[in-house]
Amino acid sequence: MAQPPRRLASLFRCLAGVALAYGAVASAQAAGPKPARLGLCAACHGETGMAQIPGAPNLAGQKLDYLREALKQYRDGRRNVPLMRAAIGPMSDADLDELVRWYSAQTPSVPTQGNP
Ligand code: HEC
Repeated sequence: MAQPPRRLASLFRCLAGVALAYGAVASAQAAGPKPARLGLCAACHGETGMAQIPGAPNLAGQKLDYLREALKQYRDGRRNVPLMRAAIGPMSDADLDELVRWYSAQTPSVPTQGNP
């Protein structure tokens, strides 16, 4: 005979849990490991790309090409922002690439203040 419905339901709940956990692991992998230089940016942009200080933009989920281009513009002075120029000054292209990949792969969190 078939199993009592209640046991079946808990089996399904369990399977759904496994699927969710697997999804979380898969999306964490998409972002890659934390970049070694992340600490240099996190004070202002947060580890997950949500701004920590007034005036700093959120970077989470922003387009990869856009972030890359923005950093190039700070570096060559087309965007003349001393703060950002100083932050990326000592870094190699490979370091910057790792950082923009990381930020681009983050999911923006829901803002805690302000109007939508
Ligand atoms: C001291 C604070 C500070 C630090 C540290 C810092 N940033 Fe910024 N960042 C800013 C501010 C402020 C802006 C906005 C500048 C402007 O008006 O163009 C900005 C802008 C940016 C932008 C452009 C975003 C956009 O939407 O145009 C990128 C990309 C960025 N930062 C990446 C980084 C990365 C990567 C690091 C680490 C290497 C970093 N920042 C470190 C404060 C900071």
